[in-house]
Amino acid sequence: PAASYQITVVVHIIMDDNCNVGSLSDDLVHNQIQVLNEDFQAIKGSSGEPGSDAKIQFVLATTDPDGNPTTGITRSCNTSWYNDNGGYYNDLAWDPSRYMNIYTNSGDGSLGYVPFLPANANGSLVGTNADRVVIGHTYFAANTGNHTNFDLGRTATHEVGHFLGLEHTFTNSGGCPSQGTPNCYSDGDLICDTNAELSPNFSSCNDTENDCGELKPIHNYMNYSYDPCMWEFTTEQIRRMRCTLESYRTDLYT
Ligand code: ARG
Ligand code: ZN
Repeated sequence: PAASYQITVVVHIIMDDNCNVGSLSDDLVHNQIQVLNEDFQAIKGSSGEPGSDAKIQFVLATTDPDGNPTTGITRSCNTSWYNDNGGYYNDLAWDPSRYMNIYTNSGDGSLGYVPFLPANANGSLVGTNADRVVIGHTYFAANTGNHTNFDLGRTATHEVGHFLGLEHTFTNSGGCPSQGTPNCYSDGDLICDTNAELSPNFSSCNDTENDCGELKPIHNYMNYSYDPCMWEFTTEQIRRMRCTLESYRTDLYT
């Protein structure tokens, strides 16, 4: 395995027809890339510091698919695309096997999403135009003042976790997931070192809540906690993400 994986990113900003709703500055894009780096590398002095270093780096593309210089940011004005309709990715995607395509638009009513189950990271969508990360523009980047509790750019951290093969910590099959090895690799979030969880932690950052006899993993990026409460990928989640790159996304990193 590589010591460190560097992923090249293109951010496609989709606005309404008037190029107004959904507009985001280059500075905000740079800020979001910085947050991803802080969170995936647990950079000292950042709010991601308490976590663990996944040794995954993100850099905006400097060369486009035609080999021309680029800022790694594209902008489109199309209300249908802004509303998350119309297969915009078939027009906009940069070779998804080589670039991680992030789109910002309305987010289709959610904070963000990745359009397929991470457990199927080896599924047929990988490398197709539909292979992408979508972030609602008001949840993109840190300190935008749009949402008090979702204002640290961690929606993208969570979504990139999905993109790299992680399930939610609260994924379960209708009850407390199996906690002993090897069943914890076939049940729940398919990760053994995240505590079992029955339902999402939506809000509070209360370290005493428990599910299934274990403390809820409220600090995990793959929970639904408020941004300031999230700062952790576990050792096994980090392994899963690095394995996803090695196994299914081999052209995505250098
Ligand atoms: N609900 C979204 C998803 O499941 C994102 C949740 C992000 N949470 C946050 N604190 N930013 O993918
Ligand atoms: Zn999620």
